[in-house]
Parts: sequence; C-alpha cells; structure tokens
Amino acid sequence: MSRATFASKIGMVAAAAGSAVGLGNIWHFPSETASGGGALFIFVYLGCILFFGIPLMVSEFIVGRASNANAAGAFQKLAPGTKWKYVGRLAILTGLIIMGFYMVVCGWTLEFIFQSATGGLFGVSDFSANFTQLLQSPIKQWILTVVFTLLTAFFVVSGVRKGIELSAKIMMPILFLLLIVLVIRALTLNGSSAGLEFLLKPNFQNFKPSVFIDAMGQSFFSLSLGMACMITYASYFDKTANLPKTALQVSVLDTLVALLAGLIIFPAAFALASNQATITDDLIEGGPGLLFITLPELFNQMPLSAVWSTLFFILLAIAALTSTISLMEVVTVYLHEEFNFSRRKSVLIVTIVVLVLGAFSSYSSDFFKVLDFATAKIMLPVAGLFTSLFVGWYLDKKLVYAQLTNDGTLSFGVRFLKGYIFILRYLAPIAIMAIFIYGLLGQCVI
Ligand code: TRP
Repeated sequence: MSRATFASKIGMVAAAAGSAVGLGNIWHFPSETASGGGALFIFVYLGCILFFGIPLMVSEFIVGRASNANAAGAFQKLAPGTKWKYVGRLAILTGLIIMGFYMVVCGWTLEFIFQSATGGLFGVSDFSANFTQLLQSPIKQWILTVVFTLLTAFFVVSGVRKGIELSAKIMMPILFLLLIVLVIRALTLNGSSAGLEFLLKPNFQNFKPSVFIDAMGQSFFSLSLGMACMITYASYFDKTANLPKTALQVSVLDTLVALLAGLIIFPAAFALASNQATITDDLIEGGPGLLFITLPELFNQMPLSAVWSTLFFILLAIAALTSTISLMEVVTVYLHEEFNFSRRKSVLIVTIVVLVLGAFSSYSSDFFKVLDFATAKIMLPVAGLFTSLFVGWYLDKKLVYAQLTNDGTLSFGVRFLKGYIFILRYLAPIAIMAIFIYGLLGQCVI
C-alpha cells in the first residue's frame, strides 16, 4: 500500500509549523516573557529551542520518516518485539485527551468571533461576567466544541495533501498577515511603547532559576513535542526532506509568531488600559482571562473595535485549527493503519470520542483541569523523555546518521552527531525530568 507524502517542501513546513503555532504561542508565551524577566526570558527560551527543542523535534522526525508509519506502528517497526510500542500508544492517547479540552477553548474562540463580528461584544459592560456566562453554559460550550471539532474533522477527512497540506498552505500565510496587521495597529497606538518596554526590557529582578524550567516547558509545548504530532507528520516527508533544516524552519516560524503575539498584546494593553497596575497583573497572569476578558475590554476602547477584535479572534481560531488538525491526524492515521478502518471511519471514531470528552470538559471545569494537568504535566514529558531515549540509546547510530544526512547526501559534521546523541542521551532526559518534577511539585505547593 503506498502511503501519502506531502507534495511540496513549503507544504511540509507549513503543516508542521501549523501544528506548532497554536494557542500556546498567544496566551502563554507573552505572559511567561513578562513574568520571567522580559528579554532575559526570551534569551533563555531561544537557548531551550536551540539546545533541546530542535534536537527533540529532529528525533521525532527521524522516528517518523525512518518508519513511514503512524506513531504506534513507527516504534513497532523500528523496535520489533519490544515494549517501545507503548511509547507510541501513550503519545496517541495523549493526543486524544489533549483534544478533549483544547477543543473547548477552540470553541470559545468561535463564540468571540461571533460576538465581535455581530457587535454584541461591544454592548457588554462587564466583560468578566460575559465570559463567566459562557463558562456557565455547558450546552453552548459543547455546541461550539462540536462546530470546531467538525471543522477539524473536515480537513482531516480530506487527507494528507488535500486536507492537511492545502489548509496549512492557505491558513499560515493568512495567520502571518493578520499578525502583521495587528502588530502595526498595536504599535501605532498612543502610549504603546510602555508595553514594548515592559515586554522586552531585561528585568533581573524577575529572573529566578525556575525561569529555565518555565522556558523549557513552554518551548516543548509550543513546538508540539512529546505527543507524536511531529512523528506522524514526518512519516509524510519524502526522502529528500532535510530534517535538521526543517526543524530549524519550523522553530523559527513558531518563535516568530510567539514574539509577534507579544508585540500585539503588550503594546495594546499599555496604550489602552486605564489602570496600569491591574493590567500588569492581568498580562502576567495570561491564559483565558487575558484573551477572553481583558483583551475584549481593551479592544472596546479602540475606534473600529469590531474590526480589530474580529481579526484577533480569527487569528486565534486559525492558530488553533492548524494545531487541532495535527492532533486529530495522529489518532486518525493510527486507527486507519493499525485497525484497517477507512480514513472516514477513523475520523468518525475520533470525533465521537473527542465530543464525549468535550462534553465532560464543557460541563465541569474540574474535569477540564484534570485533562490539562494529566497531559501537560505528566503524559507529554513521559512520552517526550522516552522518545529522546529511544533515538539516543536504542536506535542504531547508522540509521540516525542516514536520516540526518539523507544517506550521506547532506553534510552533517560527525562532531555535530556526537553532540546531538549526547543531548538525546543525557541533557534532554535530565531537562525533561526537571520539568516533570517541578510541574508535579508546583501542583502540590498550592
Ligand atoms: N503547539 C500547540 C500550541 O502551541 C499545541 C499542540 C499541538 C501541541 N500539538 C501538540 C502541544 C502536541 C503538545 C504536543 O498551542
């Protein structure tokens, strides 16, 4: 059976970057930067991307392209008869569970596009109550979740080239265009420079050792690592794809989007907010409150507010959609290849499971939080750790080298190879364990 591949290099990079660029870039990165010492945090973050993120992404690419299989099949093919196959299965299960709450947030973006475009958002006097009202309407949240899940399913059912690749090739440029328009709008507001300064000025006071761990966790989540997204997408790369170069390109695009999102949110916030002290707290807090309460309230004070707010929430929905497509594809192609279901039937099964999980997440914020915690703090680090160990220790170095250099046709210094293997064997596992332990401790301290 011949397997699909991406038709072009641009499509391949767009799809992988689409997976990486998601809600994480917009609601987490700017806040983490502000609370972690501004430019200092960015510096540490770039270090994490370079020393851990890119090597780990390349290792997922290697597993995917060397096996040309879904995540579970990949480990089975490269390590037949061993327990490594459970790593792939864990990753797939993680993807399914992430969708169970991520889709609900995606649904909120639809509601805010709607409220912005119809002008309903601008009759609101209490924005916090407006958001709470949505949170307290499980049925409404679930319907929005259904719409977003079906939208995702539509692209996944259309297949690798016509669904995933084509949609990424269209949506990613639109995303960048929207980002640039909104950055220009934000930076040309009166008083925006205070936000720029707050975001970017190195702040040694806020700089604490935990910044390293925060930056690392954020970089892994943002690059979609630890959950077989990149393994699955790399299984559609062709023989000529340059794996290290692709990982570099995807990481640069992902980081660029995160920085641009900061250049929208912070300058706009400082220019428009009436109270600098509370806005600083909101910005550092980040998360849903920032996106769905603070920002709409700020947009409301701008001329043509409906336009800017609609554009912003469309941006958010597009970023989220290319990520949900990648999450759904991981589970879909697993069912398709391991159980011989058609793509259509596989998508149907995944959709039903996601909608059931989504119903519970819409109904109970505790359930939502449990799924979030279990995946982000436990399952992602564990799967990421084992993927790193798998490529560093288990896989034959010749195979790794052949994948890095496309059978010797690309140059990749032997010294680099040594460094690369060293990172996968020792540094990345230690870093991931640090995030893991810190994440669990953080939870207990409360
Ligand atoms: N990277 C995306 C974001 O920044 C989310 C995401 C998609 C993800 N696929 C993933 C995170 C796989 C971890 C693992 O929002």
